Amino acid sequence: MLRARDAACAALEQNMNSDRLIIFDTTLRDGEQSPGASMTKDEKVRIARALERLRVDVIEAGFPIASPGDFESVQAVARAVKDSTVCGLARALDRDIDRAGEALADAASGRIHTFIATSPIHMKMKLRMEPEQVIEQAVKAVKRAGKYTDNIEFSPEDAGRSELDFLCRVLEAVIDAGATTVNIPDTVGYNLPHQFGELIRQLIERVPNSDKAVFSVHCHNDLGLAVANSLSSVINGARQVECTINGLGERAGNAALEEVVMAVRTRRDVFTCDTRLETPEIMACSRLVSSITGFAVQPNKAIVGANAFAHESGIHQDGVLKSRETYEIMRAQDVGWAANRIVLGKHSGRNAFRTRLEALDIHLDSEEALNEAFARFKELADKKHEIYDEDLQALVTEASQEA
Ligand code: KIV
Ligand code: ZN
Repeated sequence: MLRARDAACAALEQNMNSDRLIIFDTTLRDGEQSPGASMTKDEKVRIARALERLRVDVIEAGFPIASPGDFESVQAVARAVKDSTVCGLARALDRDIDRAGEALADAASGRIHTFIATSPIHMKMKLRMEPEQVIEQAVKAVKRAGKYTDNIEFSPEDAGRSELDFLCRVLEAVIDAGATTVNIPDTVGYNLPHQFGELIRQLIERVPNSDKAVFSVHCHNDLGLAVANSLSSVINGARQVECTINGLGERAGNAALEEVVMAVRTRRDVFTCDTRLETPEIMACSRLVSSITGFAVQPNKAIVGANAFAHESGIHQDGVLKSRETYEIMRAQDVGWAANRIVLGKHSGRNAFRTRLEALDIHLDSEEALNEAFARFKELADKKHEIYDEDLQALVTEASQEA
């Protein structure tokens, strides 16, 4: 028989050895909790279908007890989606869990996600409960969820500010009660990457039955660290990441799905696991979520921002035209852009200018003519943010008329 310490190491190894990283998308639940981002049932179904095409493993469709509309949305998503597991959120209360179970009844694959807070401040100030009562209620909730499904996720809310020993006791108890995924939320985005990764490692090592559950993380972005904390957790054994399209979510948002997925896919030298995602579907999801919620994506947002694969400076353009990898670590097409973009502006160089003219089928008959056109282009570029193809056509026509 394994001694306790060996068993802990084996559990950690088993979690770390799994080469599959589960992507749990909560755009329709935590994302929707972003002020001003609420969605109708039909909108949720459209986004859920896009997420299914992206091949996310789990879609958290909503919080069925929250409103009749959210109940119907979760039910509609559960009926529409076949290839992803559909999940409903429930506090650790019988009525919440029953409502979630009912909403998910028609799902091809359904999951109930139940949670209760475990940090001293939440237990004392919000729940007004003793720690022992919290454990009892968590266990009761997980057992209740077992009436509806074997696929049960438990979250100790505000785990990022909870005491380690207590967290270990809670997790051991809920895994014993039937939780198959234990999700560790950094609810208020308080942790730093090295700390949060260490927390995950400690939990997997110390919880005696940790090999019976998938360890998951759910990071908020209050300090802009949600993605970094999620990735640090994966390096330390987490095998599910909860995230949202475009990083939508409460306050400063959740970890951005596209960033987590592409970091893991791009840095194969670091990560020993990968997702099953069809990454060329990322842009379609990003545009759909942005248009439905009305939340614009900032141009310099990683992966899905308009400038993520655009080059304006002459040095970069020259490099990319010679060999794409000089300034790109991913292919634009791999995340759903039609192509990368060479943007002509005041920092652009002669090589990019000439290449664009050739693409437009404009051939100047001498090096002198090219120099003249390039000088005019620079003058114009000082007055405009971006030079479009029409500007180039006009500029070359003018130059040839004056010559
Ligand atoms: O941030 C959080 O703690 C949550 C839980 C419900 C998982 O969203
Ligand atoms: Zn959250």
